[in-house]
Amino acid sequence: MVDVRLEHLSAEFTHPSRGTIVAVREVNLDVHSGELLTLLGPSGCGKTTVLRIIAGFQVPTTGRVFIDNQDVTAVPANRRDIGFVFQNYALFPHLTVQENVAYGLHVRHQSAADIARSVEKVLHLVDLAGFGPRLPDELSGGQQQRVALARAVVIQPRVLLFDEPLSNLDAKLRVQMRSEIRELQRVLGITTVYVTHDQEEAMAISDRIAVMDRGRIAQCDTAEELYRRPASSFVASFLGRTNLLDAAYVGRDGDRVVLDIEGQRLSVRASAAFEPGDAVRAMIRPEAVGIGPAGKGLRATVVTRTYLGDKVEYVARFASQSLHIVRFNPAESEHFAPGSEVMIDLPSESIQLLPGG
Ligand SMILES: Nc1ncnc2c1ncn2[C@@H]1O[C@H](COP(=O)(O)OP(=O)(O)OP(=O)(O)O)[C@@H](O)[C@H]1O
Ligand SMILES: [Mg+2]
Repeated sequence: MVDVRLEHLSAEFTHPSRGTIVAVREVNLDVHSGELLTLLGPSGCGKTTVLRIIAGFQVPTTGRVFIDNQDVTAVPANRRDIGFVFQNYALFPHLTVQENVAYGLHVRHQSAADIARSVEKVLHLVDLAGFGPRLPDELSGGQQQRVALARAVVIQPRVLLFDEPLSNLDAKLRVQMRSEIRELQRVLGITTVYVTHDQEEAMAISDRIAVMDRGRIAQCDTAEELYRRPASSFVASFLGRTNLLDAAYVGRDGDRVVLDIEGQRLSVRASAAFEPGDAVRAMIRPEAVGIGPAGKGLRATVVTRTYLGDKVEYVARFASQSLHIVRFNPAESEHFAPGSEVMIDLPSESIQLLPGG
């Protein structure tokens, strides 16, 4: 089994008029053997650049790339044994499905009999048995993407790289194809780096996710950890919906900390490295917020109520801040109309304290 390690990677582009663009800054990453790790982040944050550096299509400005503990920074792309699946499939239009998939094996000078056997096996694996003689433009988008997948895995690469492989497909097919990719990756056990800017896709497919922000890795962990314990406001907002309440850190009270949110006090069980007076953000997910007519909590006013069948969404105004609340399977009696005065419960265990400002 193979792992991929990136050490102190940075990448700069120098443009004659726009100057130097730093696309990747000081990226350190360890992709474990057999795992599917996703680089997730907004457009322009450097995802493709990291992938191209792993593939060997681009030389990093600083840093090193290791595959299987071997420093491959200076090894050309065609000797890294990597399968690459692009967003636009990049199939050869004049070659049949069979010939497209066989291409990488021809390059490796395998015998015709071996090639035929491998191609048949892998076409079966991606559910395209019998499609061998067709040309790419005689296939649907999903089928073309499967050919691209077959072509990447037929060479039995040490590492598989995907760059937004599903973005040309419609929503339903995207969901289907992402589980097919995941299944194939698991069966073959190939160490994989996957790029997307779609947080749901990332959560559905990955063992771990590295969230990228302006060339850096902001946080790398399982989807669950990132969702529950984001390390920054950026990660919290990028993965799922969230509330970030501006607050002031008042001080410690035993194992709890006291916050001031525009005059209302909130006591939170947290260990936080803040000083009295520091600006902080209290992060809480909409589904963790309680809403009721009375009880403990903070006073707020309902602004909107949206009924969605399995859930009700509220926006409540709380001092000068808005709070999103999601209630699943709401009881019929649980109906707070716009304008209602309500009590908001922010359970301590669901609050994450983040640096403010
Ligand atoms: N060949 C290039 N020349 C100059 N700048 C480049 C080049 N390639 C990428 N960049 C810049 O580097 C930064 C990172 O680009 P990159 O393609 O890695 O982003 P990305 O995260 O893959 O974005 P997207 O989600 O839009 O594909 C961007 O600011 C981009 O404009
Ligand atoms: Mg990209």
